[in-house]
Amino acid sequence: MKPVRVALLGCGVVGTEIVRLLEEQSDDLAARVGAPVELAGIAVRRPDRVRPGVPRDLLTTDAMGLATREDVDLVVEVIGGIEPARSLILGALKTGKSVVSANKALLAEDGETLFAAAREFGADLYYEASVAGAIPLLRPLRESLVGDRIHRVLGIVNGTTNYILDQMDTHGAAFTEALEEAQALGYAEADPTADVEAFDAAAKAAILARLAFHTPVTAADVHREGITEVTAQDVAGAKSMDCVVKLLAICERVEDRGVSVRVYPAMIPRSHPLGSVRGAFNAVFVEAESAGSLMFYGAGAGGAPTASAVLGDIVAVSRNLVGGTSGPAETSYAALPVLPMGETVTRYYVQLDVADQAGVLAQVAEEFAGHGVSIQAVRQEGHGDDAQLVIVTHAAPDRALAATVESLRTHPSVREVASVMRVEGDF
Ligand code: HSE
Repeated sequence: MKPVRVALLGCGVVGTEIVRLLEEQSDDLAARVGAPVELAGIAVRRPDRVRPGVPRDLLTTDAMGLATREDVDLVVEVIGGIEPARSLILGALKTGKSVVSANKALLAEDGETLFAAAREFGADLYYEASVAGAIPLLRPLRESLVGDRIHRVLGIVNGTTNYILDQMDTHGAAFTEALEEAQALGYAEADPTADVEAFDAAAKAAILARLAFHTPVTAADVHREGITEVTAQDVAGAKSMDCVVKLLAICERVEDRGVSVRVYPAMIPRSHPLGSVRGAFNAVFVEAESAGSLMFYGAGAGGAPTASAVLGDIVAVSRNLVGGTSGPAETSYAALPVLPMGETVTRYYVQLDVADQAGVLAQVAEEFAGHGVSIQAVRQEGHGDDAQLVIVTHAAPDRALAATVESLRTHPSVREVASVMRVEGDF
């Protein structure tokens, strides 16, 4: 049987693991694919770097030459970033080669160009590893659930921030302290911006929303708030409500109007399936019309888990190549508008330091009512100089909730708006 010839672009932690698995599992992979899967070459920037188990004779610095070489059938891109990855993938697709990529940043920024090229040149473009590492999530959305109508995707898709928030929840740690620990343990990078400012999660949300709603969504369309402003007080406030603070990626179909795609830290009940996701794990909760609620859980990062997802794609694409067919084409036919955050309906938790006097609660309630925001629950904690009001709202447009908080900041009876957090999930 003619082998499937694979070009690997990039050989860092994930790439090295892919090389190891292709070698170690070659017999099983050949049996599953129906043909041997062979490495044709590996493009790297620094060929002299030590890479245990990686055959030196396969290394090249000419990535485009390898990606478009005649004897290559399948290109695996694990370089990351926008360029040169985009040019290399387009080069490969234009020469009819199928592509497997783990590149969330590129797919979220310019997926439409890549999918169009795959369609035009009759090639596959698979990217399971780009969201939530090892967790099978994109294929279920793209294939298993494609006959259903998805209402909502709610996920913890960044392990670093989940680790940090979990430390804050478990030990009452401040953000900076928890970040330093995450860096010491190798969860967070020296420059943690992409994780803590939620650029990573926003890219993943864009990819999930596109698949769930058949609508083009880019990372720039995603409303994004990171976790750097989350305080120990926010976390303690959540605890007092039997909730936990999580960085949530939320993709929602808003009936007849469009989709809302957003990433921010929010309170979620501990009893919600996402409330019990600890450490650096990822989990994604999908709500669909006929399927109901589904939960996907597992390791969202790391060399071996990511390589598992890439290998799954390599086998799927290789089977297509051997069978002379191709996988399902990407479609964004629905082209729903992405709604601005202000129009998105959310709920707020607000904690206020107030003067403990007659009439203060009525004045505060009036601010909410004046902005058309209905209150679900009010609780007072402490008294005298130490009085705090905790207010949880019913759902309202985010614009109205944000305006209410702004006016409370300068209200004469409010000493300080101590904590503001969105609330997701019923409780
Ligand atoms: N840095 C990401 C995380 C993994 O912490 O989950 C890669 O997307």
